[in-house]
Amino acid sequence: MGGKVAAVLTSIDYREQVEQQADLFRPIYYLGCKNSFTSAIQAAIDDVDPSGGRLLDLFAGTGSVGAALGCRREVTTVDVQEYSRVLCSAVLSPSALSQAEITNIVARAASNETTKQVLWCLQPLLDHERECIREAIMGDFSELVELLESPPLAVHSIPEFAAPSTRLGDAAHEAIHRLHGKGLWQSAETTVSRYFGGLYFSFIQAAMLDALLSVANSSDEQCRDTLTAAALGTASQLVNTVGKQFAQPIQPKNKSGAVKPGLVKVVQRDRSLDTLQLYRTWLDRYARLPSARGKSQAIRQDYLAAIGQNASNCTVAYADPPYTRDHYSRFYHVLETMCLRDNPAITKVMKDSKRVPSRGAYREDRHQSAFCIRSAAPAAFDALFKATREHDLPLVLSYSPHETGDGTHPRVVSMNQIVELAHAHYDRVEVCTVDGVTHNKLNSSELTLKTRDQAEILLKCFR
Ligand SMILES: C[S@@+](CC[C@H](N)C(=O)[O-])C[C@H]1O[C@@H](n2cnc3c(N)ncnc32)[C@H](O)[C@@H]1O
Repeated sequence: MGGKVAAVLTSIDYREQVEQQADLFRPIYYLGCKNSFTSAIQAAIDDVDPSGGRLLDLFAGTGSVGAALGCRREVTTVDVQEYSRVLCSAVLSPSALSQAEITNIVARAASNETTKQVLWCLQPLLDHERECIREAIMGDFSELVELLESPPLAVHSIPEFAAPSTRLGDAAHEAIHRLHGKGLWQSAETTVSRYFGGLYFSFIQAAMLDALLSVANSSDEQCRDTLTAAALGTASQLVNTVGKQFAQPIQPKNKSGAVKPGLVKVVQRDRSLDTLQLYRTWLDRYARLPSARGKSQAIRQDYLAAIGQNASNCTVAYADPPYTRDHYSRFYHVLETMCLRDNPAITKVMKDSKRVPSRGAYREDRHQSAFCIRSAAPAAFDALFKATREHDLPLVLSYSPHETGDGTHPRVVSMNQIVELAHAHYDRVEVCTVDGVTHNKLNSSELTLKTRDQAEILLKCFR
């Protein structure tokens, strides 16, 4: 790479904006959300493309960048996941619901006839869960631990993995029997209850999330994404896991087999949250969001196909791909299933020499991104730079030294590799860090040393 890299570090002081943006709207708890950096990203985008034309926000995630730039430019967001499309659509074009409409939507979810039937079917489990928590508060954890370690109904219904005859197992059998009887087994009306009830949410929360999705799906197209996005926000707030993510259900015991201290408190706190009350606050938040300029679009598609189809009506691209081996689809599989409302096969893992369903109940078809696979990532970046350059689009790319998880996960590709790949297609490439303090210049060797210390890095590729 050597002298080719014009790495100009323009570390502009964005602290004030970062503070102002701290309470910006976040549609879900999300790893690697760019909410705090949108001012810097906007400045970089305006720099590579002063025309103010349509932005193609690839790898849009929660749509934070698209939404922030949407007040100045028209925006097309792209992500391979349906939950992301729903969130982006809702933040770009939220339904301007009145208080009366919100009250009506919440009332419809509460009094839905199907929901009443679902609740009747799940009643044995609702009762059992309440009893487990009561016993745990009294000092007997055994039933609660069994509940938290058990697979969801979707797994229990497979004969090979049928629930054993315990108090929980009997309640599960009865619930499955009732759901079959009411024609609600395999129904989209019970997806959350069957896949995630007891595991990530209490059974009543799961049933009410199903009710919210049902109301959203019976609404007109304009409203549907806003209502579904509000249900996703609610699920993200309800979920009974460490850190409010969906990567794995709560582990009731530590490595030595002892029940974790504080378990009951966390279970009680999360599982007593009121789904409808939270949903109402999410609808309120969406109702207050401004709409993006012009005709915004949220697309679910792979980035390369999306560049091919949309570049001709865009003047600039922004890319924020994943950089670690952690697939986003693992962290947000619950939200994806909530949007698709299908009956996905669950991945299997080896345990005691047997293939058993994964404890997290991950979808078998969950997306595996080339950007998260060491051997495939360089080609994926090369294809990105090639495609945007061929379509004559300037590009801003985010590189996150402290992205997902604990910040110590190794990056799949180094900053140097990325700059080199960008240079193969763009003559002028600038690297700019956003740490709110200094204004430096870096040469290429400093890039390797310093990138991990920086808060956020932007690569500007000029046409
Ligand atoms: C770092 S996150 C984006 C975060 C986003 N900028 C925000 O602020 O919320 C990366 C995103 O890339 C998406 N993704 C991964 N591989 C993709 C592909 N091949 N095509 C399109 N999107 C992809 C993931 O689903 C994930 O939402």
